[in-house]
Amino acid sequence: MKAIQATPLLLVVGALLLAAPALATPQGDGDTVSAAVCADCHEVHALGPHNALDTEGLAARAGADFSCAACHGDPTQHLEEGGGEGTMLAFRDDDPANVKSQACMTCHADANPRFHASPHFKAGLACTDCHSSHQALAGSRSQLKISERSVELIGLSASSSACVQCHKGVASQFEFNERHRLQEGIMECASCHNPHDPAPRWQLGGFKQQACLDCHTDKGGPFIYEHGSVRVEGCVACHTPHGSPNRHMLTFQNQAELCYSCHNVVPGFHAPPRFTQGSQCTNCHSSIHGSNFSPVFLK
Ligand code: HEC
Ligand code: HEC
Ligand code: HEC
Ligand code: HEC
Ligand code: HEC
Ligand code: HEC
Ligand code: HEC
Ligand code: HEC
Ligand code: HEC
Ligand code: HEC
Repeated sequence: MKAIQATPLLLVVGALLLAAPALATPQGDGDTVSAAVCADCHEVHALGPHNALDTEGLAARAGADFSCAACHGDPTQHLEEGGGEGTMLAFRDDDPANVKSQACMTCHADANPRFHASPHFKAGLACTDCHSSHQALAGSRSQLKISERSVELIGLSASSSACVQCHKGVASQFEFNERHRLQEGIMECASCHNPHDPAPRWQLGGFKQQACLDCHTDKGGPFIYEHGSVRVEGCVACHTPHGSPNRHMLTFQNQAELCYSCHNVVPGFHAPPRFTQGSQCTNCHSSIHGSNFSPVFLK
């Protein structure tokens, strides 16, 4: 850690440290200790949205105390001992995830009320596994920890790149011909998933498939004649949302097989030889997502 000798105190502007006239009076008491005290020994960059000295900006807007202690905890012992390890929360890998996340949740709990039920928290991840506080990351919203190479190489958005670092298997599903346009940056993983919320089946199944309907508004109804499966199991009853070798990202290559997987009873005239596994059921049942005119979705 580089010690700072210069007399002028620090003014942190954006992600840069600049020499400037003294702004803050150093204080040694508890939570509100000025960042300038810490800056005597620590050169700290890139606090981004948490810039302690930008009093007219975010801090004032949020009414928040953006001192270093807001995240690192009470500095009294650290200052009494003149620095050193083990006296402040340092967000190390072996610090418990809930302790690290709680430091962020003191301010961000309202926006992330279900984080503790999310698969990410349950898997032992903390906010700081995805978000950086002291690193400037070009091209990344929300200070995400990403490998910038993946953005350049495959055209993913910064946010998707962050996900793909851990979910490599999912990324490969987006290499099928029939897929959502993730690589072009038109969509992101976060268009459908909220990394701070509970699992996708809860969010995206049945009545909770709002994420799909945000874009595919015509599939949402309400219809006079709903297709039961759309309502109950949701879009994923028939589609694989990441990508698939099948047309329209259907879960089966032959459309008839998809339908027969749930409908073992069909009217007699549907029988072979007129109807085969290769039949396009939607040639007649064209309003397959629901209809206002036909209880069997013919129009
Ligand atoms: C007198 C110099 C000095 C001051 C003032 C000081 N520190 Fe430190 N700090 C150190 C030294 C030395 C270390 C241990 C080596 C290192 O990590 O750089 C350290 C370590 C840390 C660590 C890592 C702790 C760990 O367990 O690894 C954090 C976090 C930290 N300081 C934050 C702060 C904050 C916040 C303030 C202001 C309230 C502050 N420091 C003030 C010298 C100082
Ligand atoms: C928004 C929360 C937040 C604020 C505010 C904050 N930090 Fe940090 N700090 C972190 C996190 C998280 C890490 C772990 C590295 C990372 O993810 O960027 C860290 C790491 C550090 C470290 C390195 C610890 C180590 O591993 O050696 C020091 C030193 C430190 N911060 C000092 C400060 C000082 C001084 C301030 C005030 C100017 C400050 N921090 C303000 C969140 C914060
Ligand atoms: C698994 C990775 C991951 C974890 C863990 C995570 N985040 Fe995020 N966070 C993201 C991503 C990705 C975005 C960007 C979402 C977007 O751009 O739509 C984001 C966005 C944000 C934003 C910007 C506003 C918003 O909601 O879009 C805030 C604030 C935030 N996260 C705080 C937190 C806090 C606090 C925690 C811990 C309680 C946390 N995050 C845990 C990945 C994560
Ligand atoms: C003292 C309160 C406070 C603490 C503690 C805090 N934050 Fe924030 N954070 C804020 C405020 C206020 C903003 C700015 C919100 C806005 O722009 O409206 C912000 C912004 C953010 C953003 C960027 C949102 C965006 O739109 O890009 C992220 C990501 C974030 N915080 C993550 C964290 C993480 C991770 C921690 C813990 C290491 C943390 N915060 C600790 C108050 C806090
Ligand atoms: C630091 C690694 C890491 C990052 C970054 C990350 N995840 Fe995860 N994610 C995990 C782990 C670990 C699990 C729990 C184990 C599992 O189900 O794979 C998980 C679980 C999930 C699940 C639930 C899986 C299930 O079976 O229910 C979804 C959905 C998910 N992540 C989406 C995302 C998205 C979207 C992003 C980017 C915004 C992201 N993840 C970023 C590590 C990560
Ligand atoms: C078009 C919306 C959409 C996009 C974009 C999307 N997902 Fe999903 N994802 C879903 C749905 C819906 C499910 C639930 C599938 C199911 O229940 O069969 C899911 C399931 C998952 C799962 C758990 C099951 C599995 O396949 O492992 C993970 C992990 C996951 N997504 C991660 C990601 C990541 C990472 C990205 C970006 C690379 C991403 N998703 C992009 C909609 C989407
Ligand atoms: C009962 C099975 C089933 C369910 C459930 C289902 N779909 Fe479909 N979907 C199909 C079939 C079959 C096609 C192909 C239609 C064709 O051949 O013209 C299709 C086609 C599509 C298409 C492309 C053609 C078009 O009409 O725009 C989109 C987009 C689509 N579905 C979105 C959705 C969404 C969003 C949901 C959830 C609200 C959903 N689907 C639920 C069976 C289903
Ligand atoms: C952010 C907007 C957005 C969201 C959210 C979204 N989609 Fe899409 N979807 C699109 C776009 C745009 C296309 C056209 C793809 C292309 O570029 O060819 C598409 C294509 C499709 C297709 C194939 C259409 C065809 O003609 O073959 C299906 C099926 C589909 N989406 C289902 C879903 C499901 C299921 C979900 C929720 C899990 C979902 N989408 C969420 C934007 C979205
Ligand atoms: C995931 C299971 C599932 C799949 C796949 C599925 N359906 Fe259905 N379908 C249902 C359910 C459930 C109902 C409502 C049955 C009820 O109310 O008795 C229904 C109702 C219907 C009806 C209305 C008549 C009736 O039996 O109530 C028609 C017609 C129909 N489906 C055609 C299709 C066609 C064509 C396909 C293939 C493109 C298809 N379905 C795929 C589950 C499914
Ligand atoms: C040539 C047009 C046509 C094609 C192709 C077709 N259907 Fe139908 N289907 C109909 C008509 C018309 C009805 C309504 C019959 C009635 O009202 O008695 C019907 C009714 C149904 C019903 C509802 C039975 C009930 O309980 O009321 C199901 C389920 C069904 N079809 C499934 C399928 C499947 C699966 C396929 C593809 C293998 C398919 N259909 C292809 C014309 C077609």
